[in-house]
Amino acid sequence: MAQTQRKILVTSALPYANGSIHLGHMLEHIQTDIWVRFQKMRGHVCTAVCADDAHGTAIMIKAEQNGITSEELIEGVRQEHMKDFNDFLIGYDNYHSTHSEENRDISTSIYKALRDNGKISVRSIVQAYDPEKEMFLADRFIKGTCPKCKAEDQYGDNCEVCSATYTPMEMINPRSVYSGATPIEKESEHYFFKLPDFQDFLAKWTRSGTLQDQVANKLAEWLDSGLQEWDISRDAPYFGFEIPDAPGKYFYVWLDAPIGYMASFQNLCDRTEGLNFEDYWAKDSDAELYHFIGKDIINFHALFWPAMLDCAGYRTPTKVNAHGYVTVNGTKMSKSRGTFIKARTYLNHLDPQYLRYYFAAKLNASVDDIDLNLEDFIQRVNSDVVGKVVNIASRTASFITKKFDGQLATEVSENDMIQSFIDAGDVIAEHFESREYGKAVREIMRLADVANTYIADQAPWVLAKEEATLPKVQEVCTVALNLFSVLATYLKPVMPNMVADAEAFLNKALTWDNRSELLFGHTINKFKPLMGRIEQKQIDDMIEEGKVEAAAEAASKAPSVTNVQQETELSKEPLEAEINFDDFAKVDLRIALIAKAEHVEKANKLLKLTLDIGGETRTVFSGIKSAYKPEDLEGKYTVMVANLAPRKMKFGLSEGMVLAAGPGGEEIYLLEPHAGAKPGQRVM
Ligand code: 2FM
Ligand code: ZN
Repeated sequence: MAQTQRKILVTSALPYANGSIHLGHMLEHIQTDIWVRFQKMRGHVCTAVCADDAHGTAIMIKAEQNGITSEELIEGVRQEHMKDFNDFLIGYDNYHSTHSEENRDISTSIYKALRDNGKISVRSIVQAYDPEKEMFLADRFIKGTCPKCKAEDQYGDNCEVCSATYTPMEMINPRSVYSGATPIEKESEHYFFKLPDFQDFLAKWTRSGTLQDQVANKLAEWLDSGLQEWDISRDAPYFGFEIPDAPGKYFYVWLDAPIGYMASFQNLCDRTEGLNFEDYWAKDSDAELYHFIGKDIINFHALFWPAMLDCAGYRTPTKVNAHGYVTVNGTKMSKSRGTFIKARTYLNHLDPQYLRYYFAAKLNASVDDIDLNLEDFIQRVNSDVVGKVVNIASRTASFITKKFDGQLATEVSENDMIQSFIDAGDVIAEHFESREYGKAVREIMRLADVANTYIADQAPWVLAKEEATLPKVQEVCTVALNLFSVLATYLKPVMPNMVADAEAFLNKALTWDNRSELLFGHTINKFKPLMGRIEQKQIDDMIEEGKVEAAAEAASKAPSVTNVQQETELSKEPLEAEINFDDFAKVDLRIALIAKAEHVEKANKLLKLTLDIGGETRTVFSGIKSAYKPEDLEGKYTVMVANLAPRKMKFGLSEGMVLAAGPGGEEIYLLEPHAGAKPGQRVM
């Protein structure tokens, strides 16, 4: 059936450029990719873009800690992210960065449009300030004791123990997580976007079918209670774009992040014949625009973003599709349990298509969380994909190859069954279109059951024993392989590599529309196993690797800044510090003699230590310069982590870390063993 060709632009939320992609991210990118592959297969012009979200304080600080520039950090992370997505078969047409010239240009021009339309206000606010680091501190970057329940080590905005909310200055003993200094209050000018002016526009827009009902209802609560002006500036030092005509003021990371969608697309248009930015972003555009996001960032995409776009003369999204979080075995992903699984850790053990299938089977159009139950994962993938779908071909292909020289029958008597499989494509397509992938998968598996029952009833392996029934064998296997071909078509958006192998075997490139072109009198190629079963050991090994990684990560981070996250309302990463004894036992702590201590040219915080651990020397760069003179350290004993993976820093290779305590600044205290301990002795 001929349908009009649509022009569709699709985005996934831009991952921060300071951490690895994990399975929480993968849910969204898989959801997006399945939708995009489906649209492409249907013959639409569908373009998918993404990028790294590269700005903000957390990235700047992380780069500083690693002794590299922010630019070096974000480019390294972008390469890592691109490889992870590529290996998960996520096929973005472009993967850019928000720290790009395109983004600077578009962000600047959008800001100017907001300003010229009178939607920017400027006023002074008082904020916490780190006098040592000479920078303003967002609440997340201040820790202290809860003024209500006295719990220690709480963030500057709320207490995780008693749920009290407060300002950082109300805390007992507040301190900057960067320097350990006590924050002071300081005034500075900030730039605000006048969101309340868009109240009526947003009340209408959020109810115009662009959002899921659940989401629109939630937003209605916020809209009813009145919108606040949005603070879109941050003071230097900040890694981002300077606001035009406001030296020393930078766009808040969340201002230029969604504009990164446009910038990535612009970058693609600039090198793609026939792809035109205006066609997709002009106010009167007839193209469709879809954002896939997590439920934690709805306000940015469904309030600030449409208001900004509309005010600056651009079109607004066709739909903002929010999804829930990933849980593993029914609970929050956990580093200590090894279930905070990075994309790369998964890929080291398992085929990405298993997870694509499993997530597809569980996904729907709601914002409900999706549980990756590892037992169910093994069982479901093995029984559905291997046991049902692949089985159709593996039980029938060899007869065609061996007995009929790869030639399928020219006609069959089971046309109705084949036709019913073809017809089911319409409802399956509706399910994919409306992001009800679980329903699509259930329908595909129902059909696979029908096909397998047919094969079992016909039992070609019995028919093949008699010369007289050989023609029937060819017919049965031809029916089965036609059914398989239709099912493979439906699974192509979900399991692209497996279906590519199926296409090679069937000798046919599968598209949604050509599923009705049957394979009669057609030659197929030799069947090779399309997909193996998941073994329990692969899962166990993956979890084990997750645990080891988490332990190594915990050991390699400076304690005071271990869990500093991006400055955003909600974080996806649980703050887990708990490890079990086995994890702890993996950390090889040794007595070290500081044989040499030196200044490092151009490094503000580091000293270079040469450590003797009994017959072996290690070079370690340590951020203790504010507390120690090198000459006072030489000849002293301390404790080091000896099995930490070496880290390449700007100034050289650091082969471990020394242990110290204290809030920072002059108050850093290296651990020192009692007299008698010898270099190289293991600390127990
Ligand atoms: O929450 C996040 O991970 C953000 N980096 C998402 C940004 S999406 C878009 F607006 F850029
Ligand atoms: Zn408290």
